[in-house]
Amino acid sequence: MNKKDLSIVILAAGKGSRMKSSKAKVLHQISGKPMLYHIIKTAQEISDDITVVVAHQKEEVIKELSKFFTNINFVIQDAQSFPGTGGAMMGVNPKRDKVLVLNGDMPLICADALSGFLSCDSQIIMSIFELQNPDGYGRVIIKDGEVLKIVEHKDANDDELKIQSVNAGIYAFSSSVLKKYIPLLKNDNAQREYYLTDIISLAKADAISISPLLVDEEHFRGVNSKEDLAECEVIMQDKIKSHWMREGVIMQLPHTIYIEESVKFEGECKVENNCRITGDTLISNSHIKSSSVIEDSHIIDSDVGPLAHIRPMSKLQNTHIGNFVEVKKSSLIGVKAGHLSYIGDAEVGEGTNIGAGVITCNYDGVNKYKTIIGKNVFIGSDSQLIAPVEIEDDVMIAAGTTVIGAKIQSGVLAISRPKLRLVKDFYYKFFKNK
Ligand code: UD1
Ligand code: CA
Repeated sequence: MNKKDLSIVILAAGKGSRMKSSKAKVLHQISGKPMLYHIIKTAQEISDDITVVVAHQKEEVIKELSKFFTNINFVIQDAQSFPGTGGAMMGVNPKRDKVLVLNGDMPLICADALSGFLSCDSQIIMSIFELQNPDGYGRVIIKDGEVLKIVEHKDANDDELKIQSVNAGIYAFSSSVLKKYIPLLKNDNAQREYYLTDIISLAKADAISISPLLVDEEHFRGVNSKEDLAECEVIMQDKIKSHWMREGVIMQLPHTIYIEESVKFEGECKVENNCRITGDTLISNSHIKSSSVIEDSHIIDSDVGPLAHIRPMSKLQNTHIGNFVEVKKSSLIGVKAGHLSYIGDAEVGEGTNIGAGVITCNYDGVNKYKTIIGKNVFIGSDSQLIAPVEIEDDVMIAAGTTVIGAKIQSGVLAISRPKLRLVKDFYYKFFKNK
């Protein structure tokens, strides 16, 4: 099916009260992006006419999604007068004859999983799955192999509640069906809502063809609670990590690793257990050792960790970062920083060694300042560089030195170290009563 033959409507106006959150449900994140982002991305693979229906926290939802997408239409549901999934469809005007309706709370949906809706010609195609525990879902009433109607959980009688065939909540309609039946929906039900699902019984009465499509729970599961959110996160993470492993990334104990969907890998990479890699990070030919955190950074031909924290806007190239090193908004090219350092707002040149415990003191409580370190600089352990500091190439900073606001020229040794005093027998006098 061509992208130009299909309209997609994504329902994202609901309150999501079961999430128990002040944040709109569709903005809760899965793998670093709002749930709704994942659904729009899938929708864009199969259609170029995408409408998202919003109401609850509409400003926030529109603002957040507009950061990622420019070519989608937002329609605002009058949720006061016309609440419910049927109410959500009332202001929608799809351009194409075939309309796929998706829910904003199904972040695992992918184009392959939707192919059944596109290949079938029926006027109504609805999705069904079988659940051990169908709680909360609409039950599908089937007789002699034909779908008769959908009964919402809150409207179901005891017999209906036992039905395990549930409405997965995704449908394809011909636009004429929508035009005819959406205005006929009523709210005479337990929730006083206009149910999109009531289209089924209305259409059935008019002998319109309804095709049930059996779908898998993995792709069609909805997020209604924070427990669902966590379960979907696991599935999404497995998908992201499987993708990168197939692309050649080695992952040790992948179930302990968290990688956001925006992260990219290139070449031969290895990620050890318990790492967290987020944001617009690129990792190229590098080794990320156990329990390291990398955010919005570029790591090229380098090794990082174990237990290192690379914070946003850092670039490491040909660099070794060891344990308990924090780097923030810094560029390190050809550098070794093996232990216990903080390097922030710095530029460090090739061949430079940063000793254990070196700190760039980049913040004076009001402003942040830069530290520029040239090539082949040796910075002894436990030195503090009180920014702004500029160190030219080929400089030696003695261990324990405090460098304050200086520019240090090539060839120099900088040393600020109190003279060592040796007080004879002091220990025995001090602890004489011990
Ligand atoms: C809906 C179905 C149910 C199905 C289930 C599958 C209806 C009446 N029920 O129930 O049969 O088993 O999905 O997940 O459709 N929304 C709006 N405006 C509203 C209300 C909801 O846009 O006024 C949006 C929500 O943001 C959400 C989607 O529609 O993305 C589904 O709403 P939700 O309240 O989660 O419906 P369910 O009760 O899960
Ligand atoms: Ca739902």
